[in-house]
Amino acid sequence: MSETTVTMEKIVSLAKRRGFVFQSSEIYGGLSGAWDYGPQGIELKNRIARFWWKEMTQMHDNIVGLDAAILMHPRVWEASGHVENFTDPLVDCKKCKGRFRADQIPPENLAEKKCPDCGGELTDTRKFNLMFKTNLGPVEDESGLVYLRPETAQGIYVNFKNVQQSNRMKIPFGIAQIGKAFRNEIVTKNFIFRTCEFEQMEMQFFVKPGTDEDWFEYWRAERWSYYKKMGVNMKKLRWHRHGADELAHYAKDAYDIEYEFPMGFKELEGVHNRTDYDLSRHQQYSGKDLQYIDQDSGNERYIPYIIETSAGLTRQLLMLLCDSYEEQKISDKGNEDDWRTVLHFHPILAPITVAVLPLMKKDGLAELAQNIRIELKDDFVTDYDQAGAIGRRYRRQDEIGTPFCITIDYQTKEDNSVTVRDRDSMLQERVSRANLTSYIRQKIKSYNTASI
Ligand code: GAP
Repeated sequence: MSETTVTMEKIVSLAKRRGFVFQSSEIYGGLSGAWDYGPQGIELKNRIARFWWKEMTQMHDNIVGLDAAILMHPRVWEASGHVENFTDPLVDCKKCKGRFRADQIPPENLAEKKCPDCGGELTDTRKFNLMFKTNLGPVEDESGLVYLRPETAQGIYVNFKNVQQSNRMKIPFGIAQIGKAFRNEIVTKNFIFRTCEFEQMEMQFFVKPGTDEDWFEYWRAERWSYYKKMGVNMKKLRWHRHGADELAHYAKDAYDIEYEFPMGFKELEGVHNRTDYDLSRHQQYSGKDLQYIDQDSGNERYIPYIIETSAGLTRQLLMLLCDSYEEQKISDKGNEDDWRTVLHFHPILAPITVAVLPLMKKDGLAELAQNIRIELKDDFVTDYDQAGAIGRRYRRQDEIGTPFCITIDYQTKEDNSVTVRDRDSMLQERVSRANLTSYIRQKIKSYNTASI
């Protein structure tokens, strides 16, 4: 891939122009911290979710899935420590009314209580809990207080016994979940990187105390190789180990996988050794026995340790947009057609796998193309486009990352063959209609990002 300067402005612009991400409630001026996923965005999001789910459940015999409710008993969040600890330090500027996270402004500004934007006076630092509150039932008082979950993990912990017993799971085993999470973030910037409503893909792996450090390393390696399989440029990834001052209240050890976004290296996902903190606290607060009885070890009882892998689905989507983006010079005619913008998604992640394009609308080519699309629909997500010059249509597909464009031309009428254009190399190959599905399947399976 050639060197392209990827900026957040370019990504935001492409995301809107090509139907990936729109501002929430845009016609009302937008809502900070919330975004809507358009036709291409939801396809891409579903693909990432499916890829992660397969990787975690289908490929691991000892991991099963769960879909817990977003609303949970409020005691869950007392037990988890979120009511007490899930806070950010907040300061306001008395002059410009700017609001900042105290840990994200220069220390000298904090010490001098001086606004980093306008130089006005800052308030004292106060703790701000990030959980959204709402009410269950018609009475708006504390009795119906519930929270929108700030992480999906707790839904797994409170179901530990349900899943373990109903599925006769033996330790070590894991529970995976994908779902919405909500945080009242003080600062939401960088597009969909940090938002108030987002999606997480979390897996909690229950292990015998004493084996936790080995499993921690196992999951670090697994999560690293996941990104390799996704086709991510591995040079843009790095590990960051949490220092003592960064560790969450529940963690014994924690590493982030960071990606080099246009605004610098930032957290993509976390791998945490949460010890027996969560299950012990839920046992204490609920009064229910959450110990595991190890029948293979003389009915030994213990509270399992938990190794967590916690990834942001919407953050991965942003990472993929940045990682796959390229502006490529493809000719030297001295006009805008010299350049194309292309998203080099791995074909298993691309929102649309195959675009079917008749060379002309006339002479029965459009009807033929529609029929070929029908043949492919059952196996692939397809698009059909007959509007404008063929070169322009290729560009439109390049911009949404469609890996294969099939062109139906006059030769198709004669010998039932089509051309398949490869997005990355732009090379075209003639393939017989009868072999099209197996040809594309094979190309997807053997896709190699090193060739981009
Ligand atoms: N259960 C552990 C947990 O929630 P976290 O580091 O707070 O850990 C895990 O979050 C992942 O969720 C992050 O690595 C990130 O990908 C995603 N994430 C967290 N806050 C987010 C936000 N405000 N917007 C988008 N994604 C977020």
